[in-house]
Amino acid sequence: MAPTVSKRSFAAAALLLKLTAAYLADDGTVVIPGAASYNGLNLVPQMGWDNWNAFGCSVNESLLLDTAQAMVDYGLRDLGYNYVILDDCWSIGRNASGYQVPDPVTFPNGMKYIADHLHSMGLKFGMYSSAGLFTCGKRPGSLGYETQDAEFFAANGVDYLKYDNCFNQGQSGTPKLSFDRYNVMSQALNATGRPIVYSLCNWGDDNPYDWAYTISNAGRMSGDIYDSFNRPDDRCPCTVNPCNWPGFHCSVLNILNKMAPIQSRTMSGYFNDMDMLEVGNGGQTDNEYVTHFSMWAMMSSPLLMGTDVVGLSPANLAIYSNPAVIALNQDPSAAAGSRIWRHECNDTDQYGQCEQSLWMRGLKNGDTVIALINGANSTQTMNASLSDIFLDARTAGTSKPAAQLEEMWDVYDLWANRMSNEEAAAILARNSTTAPAVITANSTSTTRYNTTAMSYADGLKANATALFGKKVGSVPAHGTWTASIPRHSTGLYRLRMAGSGGMGKRDEL
Ligand SMILES: *[C@@H]1O[C@H](CO)[C@@H](O)[C@H](O)[C@H]1NC(C)=O
Ligand SMILES: *[C@@H]1O[C@H](CO)[C@@H](O)[C@H](O)[C@H]1NC(C)=O
Ligand SMILES: *[C@@H]1O[C@H](CO)[C@@H](O)[C@H](O)[C@H]1NC(C)=O
Ligand SMILES: *[C@@H]1O[C@H](CO)[C@@H](O)[C@H](O)[C@H]1NC(C)=O
Ligand SMILES: *[C@@H]1O[C@H](CO)[C@@H](O)[C@H](O)[C@H]1NC(C)=O
Ligand SMILES: *[C@@H]1O[C@H](CO)[C@@H](O)[C@H](O)[C@H]1NC(C)=O
Ligand SMILES: *[C@@H]1O[C@H](CO)[C@@H](O)[C@H](O)[C@H]1NC(C)=O
Ligand SMILES: *[C@@H]1O[C@H](CO)[C@@H](O)[C@H](O)[C@H]1NC(C)=O
Ligand SMILES: *[C@@H]1O[C@H](CO)[C@@H](O)[C@H](O)[C@H]1NC(C)=O
Ligand SMILES: *[C@@H]1O[C@H](CO)[C@@H](O)[C@H](O)[C@H]1NC(C)=O
Repeated sequence: MAPTVSKRSFAAAALLLKLTAAYLADDGTVVIPGAASYNGLNLVPQMGWDNWNAFGCSVNESLLLDTAQAMVDYGLRDLGYNYVILDDCWSIGRNASGYQVPDPVTFPNGMKYIADHLHSMGLKFGMYSSAGLFTCGKRPGSLGYETQDAEFFAANGVDYLKYDNCFNQGQSGTPKLSFDRYNVMSQALNATGRPIVYSLCNWGDDNPYDWAYTISNAGRMSGDIYDSFNRPDDRCPCTVNPCNWPGFHCSVLNILNKMAPIQSRTMSGYFNDMDMLEVGNGGQTDNEYVTHFSMWAMMSSPLLMGTDVVGLSPANLAIYSNPAVIALNQDPSAAAGSRIWRHECNDTDQYGQCEQSLWMRGLKNGDTVIALINGANSTQTMNASLSDIFLDARTAGTSKPAAQLEEMWDVYDLWANRMSNEEAAAILARNSTTAPAVITANSTSTTRYNTTAMSYADGLKANATALFGKKVGSVPAHGTWTASIPRHSTGLYRLRMAGSGGMGKRDEL
């Protein structure tokens, strides 16, 4: 599963597989092409918008193009949200040659017209189908028509396919059945020659996180999300993965906790998709939406806005636009965080729930991010000791003291520089007279960032101010970070080794 192997096993592998194009990377690791992203795409999690959560089947050409324009005007495209994804309900059937026919009423100019418009705006076009007889909305599915549908997508300039699991004719129940069914579309897309990100939507059914990374770029790992922070729902019966009835109506904390056991199955080119974001849809408090967004970033989930972007409120634009949190999601490490501990607590909320947890994730530049989640019904003081944060370093191989515990760490709050509602409102007003300044590569803004001008990877190397939040303290060697976390909220902190500027490589510790 690992994209790189040791030099010794590499020699054996090369002999067996006659891999001629493998090479040694700058850092000495062996790179075997095809062992990371299967098609070279989606090296960091995809970002964009999908209409489903907010609009369901009420889709049309103007919804897509108006949303795309808002994504450009609000700076969202330049934060990295570059896929505009048309979900279910666009097809009315097949023609005599077996090709899908877009609804002529809602899409009077066809799909190529939309793709061309999006491309001219610097955006990409995503479409949807199902690996079944029908889609979930009972439109034509692609099972048995994979070749025609892949050709249709390629011919219409589609850059991304979301591929659902409804009406699969019983071709599920074992990983091999699901693998084979999803692999047909993978091969069909490849055969078109057009680079198309392939995103599975099979709800974690048959454990895609254990087999889908050689045929796809992302895979859903749970039943569908709904706009609730933690309300249990019988239609989403599992609380851990693996799960034999994924269901739907899964809350934010339900989905997050299902990521804990499978976190190692996230890698560059294949991301565990925690489903589209609900931020903006009205069912959660601001702190709950901050937690939702923080943890989707922390776990390298795709960040797909699932709301009415045109009508975003200032507060919700500010959440979607936090560059320090997006930089965490887009970190070149392309890994998911680990849950270090999770406790139940007694201060329960209206659903009788109370839980607290600590998560950590190592980043490419040697920084470490921690998240303290308070699911109690009131503000709590929460602690993260270095000993807990660096648990993996303590317990790796033969047990030894973790070098990280001997260091002092500066702590940066990734939400401290959240854009004010005034600044967000000025952006949303789309008034050229009062619009905030354009963001350039050398911008010193602490609230805004432009990945079109400079990638997150380069911005992180260059210490771009917007990507690091605000320094709020430090933790001495063997110390503990203590923070007061409000009800249903998250403290999200980037720890940088003091003195080195945090740029020390993990290997050098
Ligand atoms: C397109 O869809 C949006 C969202 O459902 C709706 O508000 C709008 O009225 C529709 N426009 C047309 C022309 O049907
Ligand atoms: C069916 O649609 C495809 C692709 O849009 C087109 O090339 C083909 O000519 C159509 N066939 C018929 C019989 O209309
Ligand atoms: C098709 O698959 C091959 C082998 O995995 C890969 O090198 C190539 O980039 C793929 N092409 C497309 C268009 O996905
Ligand atoms: C919760 O309440 C029980 C019973 O009163 C008590 O034993 C336990 O220590 C409490 N747990 C916490 C985390 O406060
Ligand atoms: C939770 O907190 C709210 C106020 O924030 C309070 O109204 C409620 O009674 C508390 N307890 C429960 C079980 O909801
Ligand atoms: C957190 O640490 C503070 C100060 O070290 C201590 O007073 C408090 O009891 C700790 N809280 C918990 C829940 O461990
Ligand atoms: C843009 O802002 C200016 C200055 O506040 C104002 O005079 C003008 O009416 C606004 N334009 C629109 C279209 O709202
Ligand atoms: C981002 O930079 C590009 C040029 O690199 C520019 O066209 C665009 O307007 C900038 N976007 C924002 C939101 O400032
Ligand atoms: C920032 O970059 C622009 C061009 O990208 C340049 O014109 C400007 O002088 C630079 N500003 C600073 C302060 O370096
Ligand atoms: C980033 O900042 C640290 C100090 O905070 C410094 O050591 C490092 O050289 C900086 N990197 C760049 C490219 O400026």
